Amino acid sequence: MKALLLAAGAFAAEGSGVNRNFRPGNGVDAMSGINIPVGPIVLLGAPGAGKGTQAKLIAGHYGIPHISTGDILRDNVARGTDLGRKAKRVMERGDLVSDDLVNGMVADRIKQPDCDRGFVLDGFPRTVAQAEWLDRELAAKAGEKKPTVVVDVEVSYNQLLQRLTGRRTCPVDGKIYNIYLQPPKTEGVCDVCGTQLFQRVDDTEEVISERLKSYERQTKPLEEFYQKQARLRCVNGDQPVEKVMADMFRAIEGGAAAAGSE
Ligand code: AP5
Repeated sequence: MKALLLAAGAFAAEGSGVNRNFRPGNGVDAMSGINIPVGPIVLLGAPGAGKGTQAKLIAGHYGIPHISTGDILRDNVARGTDLGRKAKRVMERGDLVSDDLVNGMVADRIKQPDCDRGFVLDGFPRTVAQAEWLDRELAAKAGEKKPTVVVDVEVSYNQLLQRLTGRRTCPVDGKIYNIYLQPPKTEGVCDVCGTQLFQRVDDTEEVISERLKSYERQTKPLEEFYQKQARLRCVNGDQPVEKVMADMFRAIEGGAAAAGSE
């Protein structure tokens, strides 16, 4: 825990300068997203901010695919593919996989026809080089008319630690729980399918500390990258999941409308 607290100091010192040019309010109709043309959505946020939790809700609400680069990489590691072998050790120590590997993976996925109406990217881009690549790729993508909406999920450092150390995941349906904050009805077992939950190998204190350092060094600059282009929307992730979700939908729809009217 000492390493995490040291990292916490660095995080708090560097993490306070986020610009907030968009603040969603209340009153979102959470039941009517399926006919809304949303286009590409990018979720930014520290490890444990709730990107995966919210991305699943967004995907269900708007009827678009959830593309998690972390999930795709973990799947490749589990299947022992060439990509998985290259990524495994990097992920286990909490570093970022190389831009070339991840960009190639995303390029293949967003070409699929289910992405035509939009998609939600969770964990990508994570470096300025990835963000620049994504802009070029989407500009070149035939038929891509909607501007990309970028939403940053902001969560305090202590909350991140509790979320990461307490996270448990279902290996079958991917449902995410938290032993402190969102426990399953029966300890250690998925509410939906009854499968034994697992803890991610990178959710140990030592690796969490490295992941947070990577985030500060390589991913945090993306806030400025998007802010300078007036493309960053911010959501307070330090709220119950349903409240974050409502704010998220408002940010997405307000963001899309604002960008579309330029
Ligand atoms: P990845 O899988 O993307 O991990 P991450 O970004 O570190 O994010 P997490 O999945 O840990 O957190 P999350 O924000 O999704 O939170 P969650 O919803 O689960 O990446 C893993 C690794 O892959 C990287 O370290 C890197 O090596 C590699 N990688 C991936 N993408 C890459 C890229 N683009 N470039 C290079 N390398 C890449 O929630 C966390 C917990 O909090 C859960 O227990 C949940 O139940 C709980 N929770 C969520 N929301 C709330 C809430 N509102 N209230 C209370 N509890 C909540």
